[in-house]
Amino acid sequence: MYRIDRYNELAKAVAAKREENAKLEPRRMTAEEKDTLLTQFHPDYKQGEFTVLSVGANKGEKVPTQLAALLQGHSRIKAEDVDLTSPDYDTDVLIIGGGGAGASAAIEADKAGVKAMIVTKLRIGDANTMMAEGGIQAADKPNDSPAQHYLDAFGGGHFAAKPELLKKLVMKAPEAIKWLNELGVEFDKTPDGTMVTTHGGGTSRKRMHAAKDYSGAEIMRTLRDEVLNRQIPVIDFTAAVEIILDKNGNAAGAVLMNMETKELLVARAKTVIIATGGAGRLHYQGFPTSNHYGATADGLILGYRVGAKLMYADTLQYHPTGAAYPDQIFGALVTEKVRSLGAKLVNIDGDVFMHPLETRDVTAASIIRECTERGKGIETTNGSAVWLDTPMIELKNGEGTIEKRIPAMLRMFGKYGIDIRKEPILVYPTLHYQNGGLDITPDGMTGVENLFAAGEVVGGIHGRNRLMGNSLLDVIVFGRNAGIYASAKAKETVTPEGLTLDHIAKFSEEVKAAGLGAETASPMLLPKYARDVNNSQENR
Ligand code: FUM
Repeated sequence: MYRIDRYNELAKAVAAKREENAKLEPRRMTAEEKDTLLTQFHPDYKQGEFTVLSVGANKGEKVPTQLAALLQGHSRIKAEDVDLTSPDYDTDVLIIGGGGAGASAAIEADKAGVKAMIVTKLRIGDANTMMAEGGIQAADKPNDSPAQHYLDAFGGGHFAAKPELLKKLVMKAPEAIKWLNELGVEFDKTPDGTMVTTHGGGTSRKRMHAAKDYSGAEIMRTLRDEVLNRQIPVIDFTAAVEIILDKNGNAAGAVLMNMETKELLVARAKTVIIATGGAGRLHYQGFPTSNHYGATADGLILGYRVGAKLMYADTLQYHPTGAAYPDQIFGALVTEKVRSLGAKLVNIDGDVFMHPLETRDVTAASIIRECTERGKGIETTNGSAVWLDTPMIELKNGEGTIEKRIPAMLRMFGKYGIDIRKEPILVYPTLHYQNGGLDITPDGMTGVENLFAAGEVVGGIHGRNRLMGNSLLDVIVFGRNAGIYASAKAKETVTPEGLTLDHIAKFSEEVKAAGLGAETASPMLLPKYARDVNNSQENR
């Protein structure tokens, strides 16, 4: 397949100004300019897309409307259909989710000598970690420090991060890289073994460690191997649909559902870790997504229904550069590393309209402004888009750089006849990351005793916007952290008694009392366009 002539014709304006544009040093926006831009163009500020919650721990706070429907929806199960007296599984630490955070937690739990078990609605590794491309941040070079990393991330997150969580993230970052390296992650290195590091949007030092542009896949491959080598039990294609509490109101396991047969099973555990990932497949505000098929906000629902509090659930990350063309990859991630390596964002006239490494929320809003208010976008079948001038990379760094540093991008577009070494590509923001999520303490515990959370399901680590490479980092640091603390807690906890699902009826009464219909079954488990679970009659 080849790009249609109209785009090739329009791309001539980009080629004509490429040499001149490559030399440009676009200025950074002022804080005031950023604030105005965000309030006018960032989707988080769009009126009419949010609903104020009427029940639960965050009553009175706004969240995206689709999420509100799930949080205030009805359980997939009836408590009376579940026999809690003879559990199908008994473990010390139950880990819900088979991505990077779940796997890291399981490895630490296993090391701590407790019984750990992973349940995942798809397969281990089917997760956003696997989809991550650009890299993982850590201040481990002589010109850098965790304090510098903290300042970058705190500013990038609009000074809203929970300081104690962000501090843990940056302080534990060098150790996380060392841990991954020793487990066998093939990081990019120079011949003398030094890690190659680059900038990301909003970083003041080059601290992005990568495995080309499939960093997440390489990290997930390594973690999955470690889980399997340690023979940690992994129950695939089995979703958690409700958290079970004990007679004291502490988390004590989960009701599981076999995704194929719909059989319900009970897992009893001394502690539970929710590591279910993000929510891109909810397609907030109609955006496409870079997320894995299973990213449906399940952990937020599981936690919220038993009383855990959410933090910043109204803020999402729209990655500035999702593929806008061709249709087959609409919304797929075009890694920020493309801009780190020198590609600039260009409008229909071939003009650079911003600094390419502003933070993500600012970059996304700037692209949206270019395509809407300024009318300088390029029309595609998927709406307006801007150019990302990828050939600039080799102009700046020499021939062969693209194949060496971002081979996955070369291949993704190459499949559709687009050679990114020679032609610019069309991009537009795509729903990428859930900045908000379950509120945790530094030991990884939610407001519900013995219920821990780690990874993208957590809110507050990054504030109201996250910098590139801090998510793979958070998955490792807080995944391991949850594994360590949940194991320690399990060791001092006796086998839970008086298991109950009474919270289902209690929550549903609150929903009814608030005058809501609770039309939606939750957690969602699969996107609304999936066959089977969500579309089958019995689940409506
Ligand atoms: O652009 C990227 O490669 C994405 C990285 C991230 O979300 O951290």
